[in-house]
Amino acid sequence: MTAHSSPDDALSRHTDYGQLALEEGALLPDPIEQFRVWLGEADSEGIYEPNAMVLSTIGVNGTPSSRTVLLRGISDHGFAFYTDYTSRKGQALDAHPHVSLVFPWYPLHRQVLVTGVAEKVSVNDSDDYFASRPRGSQIGAWASDQSQPIASRNDLEAKVQAVEKRFKDVDAVPRPDKWGGFVVKPETVEFWAGRRSRLHDRIHFYRTADGWQTKRLQP
Ligand SMILES: Cc1cc2nc3c(=O)[nH]c(=O)nc-3n(C[C@H](O)[C@H](O)[C@H](O)COP(=O)(O)O)c2cc1C
Repeated sequence: MTAHSSPDDALSRHTDYGQLALEEGALLPDPIEQFRVWLGEADSEGIYEPNAMVLSTIGVNGTPSSRTVLLRGISDHGFAFYTDYTSRKGQALDAHPHVSLVFPWYPLHRQVLVTGVAEKVSVNDSDDYFASRPRGSQIGAWASDQSQPIASRNDLEAKVQAVEKRFKDVDAVPRPDKWGGFVVKPETVEFWAGRRSRLHDRIHFYRTADGWQTKRLQP
């Protein structure tokens, strides 16, 4: 990491965004299919963690909170991610299932915004995904009571060691009940492409009884 740039430089820069037009006719009629295309492009363009998304939830007391999670599945049901159900976000989703997702692909001058409703994925899906994780992550899921305070890093390492000991003779670490997936069923999906002079393109998909419709939004 170099130390040549000041925070003020970062605050005052005015990057003019790309010239790639986003035309309604060039988008697939199903936003989930269109999302797959853009995710593939983000990956082939070398975006770091292209499946990282900012998930915003409404807390038990109505306070919003946001954090990054990794998209692990896309299907007709929606956008799936995995987490600890007892975490802050897990508790928030129990109280208020409405969420928003942001895929911030800044180097491509693109973002995708999703709003929708989250529900737990099936136990089978959670089992399958948990089984595909590296053993260290499986142990970590048991050891960490995500979002709860802990006195020190040493205390956390001690919890990890206790879990490792517990499963030392077990080949396949089982999934803890408290850990699993959510799938966000989209209600709106907006494709945003940066254009010159902040005159960006925004194509907003929304669900109707007749299927997906689109409208163009002003930048
Ligand atoms: C790139 C990145 C990917 C992450 N992926 C996940 C994830 O898939 N699941 C998860 O529970 N936390 C993930 N995290 C950690 C979360 O951002 C967050 O710290 C954690 O889930 C606790 O959030 P909460 O206290 O709001 O529930 C990720 C963080 C980063 C920076």
